[in-house]
Amino acid sequence: MYSSLIDQAAEACVQATKGVALTGAGISVESGIPPFRGKGGLWEKIDPMKYAHIDMLVNNPVEVWEVLFLGIAELLTTAVPNAGHLGLQRLEQMGILQTIITQNVDGLHQKAGSSDVIEFHGTHAMLRCMGCHVRSDWQSVSMDRIPPVCPCGAYLRPDVVMFGEPIDVGLLRRSQILAANCDVMLVIGTSATVEPAAYLPLIAKDRGAFIIEINPEPTPLTNRISDITLLGPAGEMMDRIVAAMDKRRAGA
Ligand code: OAD
Repeated sequence: MYSSLIDQAAEACVQATKGVALTGAGISVESGIPPFRGKGGLWEKIDPMKYAHIDMLVNNPVEVWEVLFLGIAELLTTAVPNAGHLGLQRLEQMGILQTIITQNVDGLHQKAGSSDVIEFHGTHAMLRCMGCHVRSDWQSVSMDRIPPVCPCGAYLRPDVVMFGEPIDVGLLRRSQILAANCDVMLVIGTSATVEPAAYLPLIAKDRGAFIIEINPEPTPLTNRISDITLLGPAGEMMDRIVAAMDKRRAGA
């Protein structure tokens, strides 16, 4: 019936009104930000249990700042959204996508113009005090000393979730509800290995959503949970889906 998997994905999206996207590091690879796992991934260079664990930050904040946080901050200053982020924004404009749940801390969905983005693992764009928990932006804080210090005297840290820390309970609950009620879930650029984010497609599938996965590599969801897997880069696949949808909507 359909000429290709792209057409099937486009057809499922055209029918949807309560779509949700779950995105991971892979969607930002075409913006020049490396993923965590796999070839060229951040965790190949640094040990996440050493530098991305809350215990390490508490016990050795200087090293975590120097090895992890400053490196990520540098990458994020120049990154701009790519066709993957922009394609999801188009789906929102079309009334198909409600919300993006992202595991990324790079802010690129918001930069692409998406209006409802759940930052499941927090954001690198803001700093948070480890003592009084007040948030501030990077520009308002002196980086003469690392780690930077809050007016209350405690150290500041990026407002991200580290290993060993819980997900904000309100965001987790909202994400679970969205997953349970969506008609289509686009799962883009995630290895689907880190809980509880990795569980969201299972909730959606269990409640009858159509799951479209985009990733150059198969994941634990592929052929099990995903109805369609488009094995390719996020930008190119999103461009092709949106083009196929535009064609359908124009009645071609
Ligand atoms: P991973 O690094 O685990 O996975 C990235 C995925 O993107 C892989 O499955 C790649 O195959 C895929 N990929 C690579 N290039 C791509 C491209 N151009 N287009 C689409 N996909 C591509 O990243 P996440 O699944 O996001 O958490 O990792 C989840 C969490 O683990 C992160 O949020 C972070 C990390 O530890 C914390 O730091 C708490």
